[in-house]
Amino acid sequence: MSTARDFLALPADAVSREKLAAQGLDYRVLDTRDEVAFAAWVRADERGFHGPLGTPEQNAFARSAMGSRRTVGVWDAGIVRPDEPVATVNAWPAELTVPGRRTVDGWAISSVTVSPTHRRRGIARALLEGELRSAVALGLPLAMLTVSEASIYGRYGFGPAAGAADVSIDTSRAGWLGDEPTGRVDFIDPEEYPAIAAALHEAGRLDHPGEVPGWIQRWHQAAALAPGDSKRAATRAVQYREDGEVRAAAVFRVIENPSDFGRHRVEVARLDSTTASARLGLFRFLLSLDLVERVDADLLSVDEPLLWRLADQRAATVRVHDHQWLRILDVPAALEGRALAGAGRWRLEVTDPLGHASGSWLVESDAEGVAHVTADSGVDEVDTGAGAEAPTLRTDVAALSSAYLGGVAVGTLAAAGRMAGSDAEAVAIADRVLRSPVTPYLSIWY
Ligand SMILES: CC(C)(COP(=O)(O)OP(=O)(O)OC[C@H]1O[C@@H](n2cnc3c(N)ncnc32)[C@H](O)[C@@H]1OP(=O)(O)O)[C@@H](O)C(=O)NCCC(=O)NCCS
Repeated sequence: MSTARDFLALPADAVSREKLAAQGLDYRVLDTRDEVAFAAWVRADERGFHGPLGTPEQNAFARSAMGSRRTVGVWDAGIVRPDEPVATVNAWPAELTVPGRRTVDGWAISSVTVSPTHRRRGIARALLEGELRSAVALGLPLAMLTVSEASIYGRYGFGPAAGAADVSIDTSRAGWLGDEPTGRVDFIDPEEYPAIAAALHEAGRLDHPGEVPGWIQRWHQAAALAPGDSKRAATRAVQYREDGEVRAAAVFRVIENPSDFGRHRVEVARLDSTTASARLGLFRFLLSLDLVERVDADLLSVDEPLLWRLADQRAATVRVHDHQWLRILDVPAALEGRALAGAGRWRLEVTDPLGHASGSWLVESDAEGVAHVTADSGVDEVDTGAGAEAPTLRTDVAALSSAYLGGVAVGTLAAAGRMAGSDAEAVAIADRVLRSPVTPYLSIWY
């Protein structure tokens, strides 16, 4: 077995290679040091998401952001531009924050595209199944991604595990409960923002199950510093200091209302913070800007404290949606990797159409939430196994993946008919121990 450390050396998955070869397609890992080939791959990726087709500067930026990932493409020798892949995907091992301020290594998957000329003939399925087998070969207990459409990935065993809230606040109604923040707000150059925000994100990412490490180009993009970004001139950056320390930073744009200068709109591109008080302080500043009637901020926590400081909560329109998707591959490693919420003893039976997570286990945890997960032969066999008499929770892998961070309760999934207990106790125990004291949250797209 390879290890996550040599993920770049892992060749493209043999099963998917054979499947795609039968359609005359060439599926392989790209050497990203080949600038010309990588630029063609980036073009295919951008086109898949209807993005701009890159200038040399944009290609260089994409290379700096993505060149270190395991980069896979599918090529069709029969097309007019055979150097350009007809499908793309990349992936890398990344630390996923899990309950207990711990991390579990996951296979972060991105850039899934299939050319419109080649869609609906099973290429995406070959890519995704290939990535999952690759993650297993690397010994990674789960895979993860953020998605363009919520209807694509459930069939591969992914489930939405951390939500996000897009919030739009009417500043004239919002008001503010309690004391005014006492920290200090300063404008900074947008060029200074990426390093500050990246450090804040890194310092705070263990606070929220669901977070993953960022990369510096993510913050360059937020500040519209990526080459050719037309929003650059309108972008402002601010930082927030408490006790002399920078504890929050944001980039935002004021979108003018040309027919009424008193009714501009602010788009918050990002707000990173290491303390809740600094986060509130910076939001208070943005909500207080003159000539602004609305502040829009995407990808906040579904448990965002800001909403509890508004004097009028109806000033906020909140749209909650799925954001961090997980796919458990190794049930014992995933469960033992997080802190469970107290003591319990129960059996877990998992079905997985792709087989990776299928099986039954005895899950035991102590009062500190330290989990011990052992394979169990199951009730259908002549079984004297240790867990045979324990209450049993039955689930498919997608529902288990959704419950993994505690973003949805087992009881809720059982009520929805997505999980079932041998009895009420099974649901009650799993519900209790899989909860998280902190609502899962992921602040970036990846
Ligand atoms: C989404 C996309 C990758 C699918 O590629 P594809 O090669 O056409 O997909 P496949 O032929 O392998 O289809 C696999 C399955 O997904 C389903 N599917 C494909 N695209 C879908 C979509 N957009 N929404 C819902 N289901 C979809 C297919 O019906 C098929 O279902 P089945 O296995 O149950 O029969 C491709 O349409 C694309 O590149 N879209 C634009 C970029 C994008 O959104 N990428 C996803 C990034 S998160």
